[in-house]
Amino acid sequence: MNKKKKLVVLTGAGMSVESGLSTFRGAGGLWGKERVEDVATIQAWYRDKQKVLDFYNLRRKELLGVKPNEGHLILAELEKDFDVEIITQNVDNLHEQAGSTHVTHLHGELMKVRSTGPGEEVFDLTTDNYETHVGDLCPKAYQLRPYIVWFGEAVPEMEKAINITEQSDIFVVIGTSLNVYPAAGLLNYVPSGAVVYLIDPNDVNVNGRNITIIKKGAGEGLKELKEILNNKE
Ligand code: APR
Repeated sequence: MNKKKKLVVLTGAGMSVESGLSTFRGAGGLWGKERVEDVATIQAWYRDKQKVLDFYNLRRKELLGVKPNEGHLILAELEKDFDVEIITQNVDNLHEQAGSTHVTHLHGELMKVRSTGPGEEVFDLTTDNYETHVGDLCPKAYQLRPYIVWFGEAVPEMEKAINITEQSDIFVVIGTSLNVYPAAGLLNYVPSGAVVYLIDPNDVNVNGRNITIIKKGAGEGLKELKEILNNKE
């Protein structure tokens, strides 16, 4: 039996737009409503912990009100014919809810918190207990913070993501403006022999290598990609 081809997918906020979640940049983006400096940096945390916690409490509330979209479901379905690895910048768990089994979160996960103590233990939140407040402590009595990689912080999963990318036969970029590094640099680790696709309804600045652009939203774009891949295989 033929070895399944390695299909590596890099996703961003655009992947969850059709589920009802906002992007960060562009029209209606989160960073148009909140300043990064006020809610997504360690300095913001030291300045006003409750403001930061409230920002993520609200995002969890929004996440609990939405479902995976058609694009998420197609990616899960593709696991039948491909060895699919999803590398996401998204902190939502819609890929996992859709049934994707190999998901690497570069920027953390909304439904988890971590201790600010030396051990940095990570804890799951539940759908009926998803808010965190100043004074919510880990078992060792350290304040809990969102399990999110803030601007200026290290990206612990980056090495794993590079290793996965270097094995790709097919690499697909979906719903990311490729503005944020090191995630946007993953394209540089895609083997020269791999085929690269980009799905986005808007222009995304990619240069250098031969990329097939599918200028559509995640759902329609993945329907088209599935056709292309099925005809090729
Ligand atoms: N389907 C696919 N893509 C879409 C859709 C859609 N329906 N709607 C919008 N997009 C695209 C936009 O055109 C844009 O290129 O999604 C992209 C979203 O870009 P950003 O808002 O910049 O989000 P992202 O690239 O994921 O941001 C990266 O920045 O703010 C930080 O940590 C945060 O992980 C995030 C990182």
